[in-house]
Amino acid sequence: MRALLDPALPFCPEDALLTRSGLSLAALEEAILDLRKSGLPLVASADRGWRLEEPLPDLLSAKELVARSESEAASIRWSAVCLDRVESTNDLLLRTEAAGAPEGLVVSAERQSRGRGRLGRRWESDSPGGIYASLLLRPSLALPQAHRLTILTTVAAAEALEEAAGFSPKIKWPNDLVGSRGKIGGILTEVVAEGGRLRGGVVGMGINVSQESGAFPEEIRGRASSLRLETGQLFRRVEILAALLRRIALRCGSDFAEIRSLWEWRCESLGKIVRVQQGGRLVEGYALGLDEDGLLLVRTEGGAIVPLLAGEVLEAG
Ligand code: BTN
Repeated sequence: MRALLDPALPFCPEDALLTRSGLSLAALEEAILDLRKSGLPLVASADRGWRLEEPLPDLLSAKELVARSESEAASIRWSAVCLDRVESTNDLLLRTEAAGAPEGLVVSAERQSRGRGRLGRRWESDSPGGIYASLLLRPSLALPQAHRLTILTTVAAAEALEEAAGFSPKIKWPNDLVGSRGKIGGILTEVVAEGGRLRGGVVGMGINVSQESGAFPEEIRGRASSLRLETGQLFRRVEILAALLRRIALRCGSDFAEIRSLWEWRCESLGKIVRVQQGGRLVEGYALGLDEDGLLLVRTEGGAIVPLLAGEVLEAG
């Protein structure tokens, strides 16, 4: 129904809405009421019908998110909770996972007071216009394959930005999404294992959507970017996040060999020297590609091929 109304179009007469949506009059009235309740500025004209007014508010509502994330290839049933402020959506979802939450639960927040990035870093989550969301997956993977989840979601996120914003980010190892002006998004995957297999994976995504550069704290301003800064356009976060969920559901059905080559194709770190602090030692080498579990293979100066892992694993108690 929302898809039939476009702010760029003139008023849409009620009978045209009925024909195109296939809804009964009562169902159409109910759908219009729902859209208005969700805050969309729908205006009515007695003789001309209905129209959406710009600017559309950048709402992140659970109902709209779930409706938009449905797809034919739905291997995952998404459910969502959209909150105002939390410490960290990853922390909240990890606790919910432990209580038996179903695969497909998404938690998003307008702001996080303790947003976490990789390697114990802080994730700046105070600027409006960003997506701060975590989702719960329960893939059938052995613990050593856990990193596949990170690779899969990074590829899906890049594809989603392409689909929903017409913008193709590069991937910087292991899971940064970058544009010409800097980092647009990052993914923090945390897994819980039981008996050597994954019980759950919480995929936390931070995506900068409509921030101007002044919205970022000074210390990261020079390397943070957003979809708005890259494209000069404004996007509704719900559309970006829904595209991400659709893409993840789709890619969960793909063969890992395919995901791996898609990741390699988008990755700007390959062919470069990478330096990684791993287990107390510094490994430096030429980035070659991914192994079958999604670890980065580097060739060190001595000629050895070393697989590098970046991620965190929590063993379930
Ligand atoms: C990175 O360091 O690049 C990963 C950043 C991940 C940030 C997201 S925001 C939503 C979720 N909740 C968190 O506390 N972190 C992740």
